[in-house]
Amino acid sequence: MRIKQFGEEPAGATPLTEEDYVGLKPKWIANRDDLNLAEAQNISEAFDKYFKSPRRTEEILDDLFVRKLHTEMYSNVWAWAGTYRTVETSIGVAPQRISEDVKVLMENAKYWFDTSNPTEIDEAVCKVHHKLVQIHPFRNGNGRMTRMFADLLLAANGRRVFSWGGGILDVVSPTREAYIQALRAADLGDLSLLHEFVRAT
Ligand SMILES: Nc1ncnc2c1ncn2[C@@H]1O[C@H](COP(=O)(O)OP(=O)(O)OP(=O)(O)O)[C@@H](O)[C@H]1O
Ligand SMILES: [Mg+2]
Repeated sequence: MRIKQFGEEPAGATPLTEEDYVGLKPKWIANRDDLNLAEAQNISEAFDKYFKSPRRTEEILDDLFVRKLHTEMYSNVWAWAGTYRTVETSIGVAPQRISEDVKVLMENAKYWFDTSNPTEIDEAVCKVHHKLVQIHPFRNGNGRMTRMFADLLLAANGRRVFSWGGGILDVVSPTREAYIQALRAADLGDLSLLHEFVRAT
């Protein structure tokens, strides 16, 4: 089964799709706006928790932490929060590869952070963000999770969090378009657009 991806949904009282109901916990959620609100509340709690006491790089670069962060961000909303997907997504590796690919990425990434050079730290964070979101470990919420993951790595390395293009990323917008273009360039091996985008104002 393939599942729908990306924030293409227009604003308003858009009905939920059959896919959206898989594992949906709150009974009060009746449409897309409700769902967005529930997710945003949950994410904001996770944000407060993690940025009040930032983790160290070695703690973050751990496949258990990847699952933990997704759990903290979405477990009020989704029963499958923190559980790797077992279905194909429009981008992302085959479900049976997720566990190993995340582990290998975390191990490799530890070497990329063996620097105190600010530009190299930003590059390392861009690389981890792109590779993790490209694996696409979960049914949904990968973009937001991997962006918070990136910001936590920056905090752990004494860097300001990214601006993420300085605009609104959650809806169809020029900023969102630039972000997706930058990820597509990264898919082809060119991280320069993403590196520029994440600090754009
Ligand atoms: N070509 C691509 N290569 C790698 N990653 C991509 C590509 N296109 C989109 N993405 C990532 O996939 C994310 C969407 O996946 P998903 O729907 O699981 O996350 P989300 O958090 O629900 O999305 P959103 O960014 O809309 O909040 C995007 O935010 C982006 O980070
Ligand atoms: Mg999504």
